[in-house]
Amino acid sequence: MAELSCLPTPSLVVDLNKVTQNCERMLQKCQELGVKLRPHTKTHKTLQAGEISTGNRKHGLVVSTIAEAKYFINGGFTDIIFAQPPSLNKVEVCTALVESISKFHMLIDNVQHLQMLEDTKLANGKQWSVFLDLDCGYGRTGAKWDSIKTFDLARLIHQSESVDLAGLYVHEGNSYNQTSTGDVTKLSDMTATRLLEFSDKLEKEGIDCPVKSMGSTPSCSLPTEIMSRITEFHPGNYVFYDLQQYYIGSCTLDDIACTVIARVIGHYPDRGHMVMDCGWTALDNQSQMSKCVTGHGCIVGEPNLRIDSMTQELGKISAINGKLDYEKYPIGTILRIYPWHACATASLHEVYHILLDGAIVDQWRPVKWWSA
Ligand SMILES: Cc1ncc(COP(=O)(O)O)c(C=O)c1O
Repeated sequence: MAELSCLPTPSLVVDLNKVTQNCERMLQKCQELGVKLRPHTKTHKTLQAGEISTGNRKHGLVVSTIAEAKYFINGGFTDIIFAQPPSLNKVEVCTALVESISKFHMLIDNVQHLQMLEDTKLANGKQWSVFLDLDCGYGRTGAKWDSIKTFDLARLIHQSESVDLAGLYVHEGNSYNQTSTGDVTKLSDMTATRLLEFSDKLEKEGIDCPVKSMGSTPSCSLPTEIMSRITEFHPGNYVFYDLQQYYIGSCTLDDIACTVIARVIGHYPDRGHMVMDCGWTALDNQSQMSKCVTGHGCIVGEPNLRIDSMTQELGKISAINGKLDYEKYPIGTILRIYPWHACATASLHEVYHILLDGAIVDQWRPVKWWSA
């Protein structure tokens, strides 16, 4: 056990009680709605948070990279969706993954993806299990929910002998563009309605579509009634939450489980600021999009401090109102910063220092990079 003050700076500190609370709340919400929770691992990328988020079942995840897929399979997790349309090299890598666990699903949105899977045979006549990626308005990946071509693709998957249609998958990343909780819930209802309409249409044609999966952290944090008709949710950011989620209305400031710690290293009263030993290599560059009055993040317990700007390893801090009280922050003072986007911030750190009841009790090492 160590004190926070013994850590090198900058470092990422993860509060275990908050992670557990965020995960338990999401599991409970899903249970109340009768919806399965399939957490996305992209934010934390650790076996430990994977276990907590699945209620220790180690079953039912979404991953965003091949490196994550391998890591969670090696860690004993099963029933995993690789949630990115694949290129052929990734299909080839995935053959070994499909053969190593009982359920490993691909995500596809194009007839060329289907063709690649059909051309890549699996051992023992095993079928590929696929989710059809449906675009219900976000406009990134996914086949459009209202296009006849999408319906035709679903029919082709259904008819394929080497591919099994496990379900439909929607990621409503457009929930991040909403500016009020009312707008988020409207968008969730629209997404769920489009997903359900599409699956009803398939079922009327005799195309069985067992799973309907949707979910971003904003929509799953504020689930609506119609979302109870969805089979499963797949949010990921909620494990840590962040300032962006706080501004959308998904969480309170106190729910944010990860902070970057930094030390004050210089005082510049002639320029009205002080400097900390943390820049964008530790806090991330997406903080440029921050809507906070406190600048590129929010320093815990210091509402009058603003992180004005960052360079690679340094951050400039000034007072929002009045003059900066340098005596309050002697050189060496530790500052804890809530990040704007936890997924981006966590991806910059090789180690998470685990805080439990005020002491550092453990280290988690996230899986890094992509690997195919
Ligand atoms: C395909 C996909 N599914 C699920 C998620 C999880 O959403 P969130 O980060 O809002 O929890 C993401 C996030 O980027 C995603 O890209």
